[in-house]
Amino acid sequence: MLSRRTLLAASVALPFAGPAGAAAAPGLGTLAARRGRYFGTSLASTEIVADDPSFALMEAQCSVWVPAWEMKWGALCGRLGDAPDYRGADKVVAAAIERGKRLRGHTLVWHEHLPEGAEALQTAADWDRHVVPHVAATAGHFGEAVFEWDVVNEAIEPSQGDDGMRRTPFYAMRGPDYVADAFRLAAEAAPHARLCLNDDHLYYAEGWQEARRVAMLRLIDRLLGAGVPLHVLGLQCHLDTRWRFEERRFARFVDEVTGMGLDLTVTELDVTEAPGAGAAGLAARRRRAADEVGKVLDVLTDRPAFSGVVTWGLSDDRSWLRKGRKLVDNQGLPYDDAGRPTPMRDRLATLLSSGRSHHDRTR
Ligand code: G3I
Repeated sequence: MLSRRTLLAASVALPFAGPAGAAAAPGLGTLAARRGRYFGTSLASTEIVADDPSFALMEAQCSVWVPAWEMKWGALCGRLGDAPDYRGADKVVAAAIERGKRLRGHTLVWHEHLPEGAEALQTAADWDRHVVPHVAATAGHFGEAVFEWDVVNEAIEPSQGDDGMRRTPFYAMRGPDYVADAFRLAAEAAPHARLCLNDDHLYYAEGWQEARRVAMLRLIDRLLGAGVPLHVLGLQCHLDTRWRFEERRFARFVDEVTGMGLDLTVTELDVTEAPGAGAAGLAARRRRAADEVGKVLDVLTDRPAFSGVVTWGLSDDRSWLRKGRKLVDNQGLPYDDAGRPTPMRDRLATLLSSGRSHHDRTR
């Protein structure tokens, strides 16, 4: 059931701005900034190509960029103990600074994309010898260029233990306290940065997502109760049209999180279409993807604690969803394969221009 605002938005959707780079229409980052928010996307250093239309789109539409993989531990250090190679990430940082973009850092502690050998780490001594210097060096290297860090990514997994935590090498080294330890290390190395706990699958009515919301609320409560410097919950928002969305249930979760004093941000927005969606026409598929985004952002843009949206790629031709997934032509991003705006782009423009401003305390 779409909300009143989404139905209204769909009916007054901005006319397509035409091919990428069309003049005049304010970018999504500009629209978001008018309400104290940001809009951005993930990218790789290899996408920073002068005169490339896709890169021009990222420049025109985004106020924030996030390296899709080049700040990860395994991208910096091929093998455990290697000296970090910052060249790829530094290229993204330099391009962002040159163009006045702010940077989200992604991600300091994550059980994937690890240096070779890191999966075997398991003691407190391993933590001190490897994780502490990694977090300090990485957050320290990028310094004030990064305004917000995904300090810990994907810590929740209720199926793996009563405490709702995913069993990872970091958990093996320090138990559930590894999350608090990671945030304290990040706060020491990047005292200026907003520190974000990032995770996915927290939006839909499915029972397993409800279990994840419960586990996430317990973790946040434990961290804040221990005085851990946690500022933002990152909702990856890899949305999926197969699952059932109940606005009240999601809004209740959002209000519990913001009620604990955290900001909320969308960190990896895209939409996976249901298997078989390919049988429908492209226009209908793209409208369906825009509606999926509208359901979630309708709730978030009405909350002053909602700070921004980052999509995981800007145009479908660059989407990770196209690689080895069910739908090789997945329609899940604000721009199509040719860099033309999709209904999702119009819906984002309407939603980012509506609702309550970030940290608007007027009601
Ligand atoms: O292209 C380079 C190649 O030049 C290099 O030699 C090689 C060395 O590792 O890496 C190649 O890059 C690959 C990169 O994607 C670009 O395609 C990396 O191998 C590969 O690990 C990397 O995968 C990324 C993955 O995270 C792991 O870091 C995906 O792009 C990225 O979309 C995905 O993003 C994750 C988020 O971080 C967390 N949430 C889920 C999301 C999707 O899985």
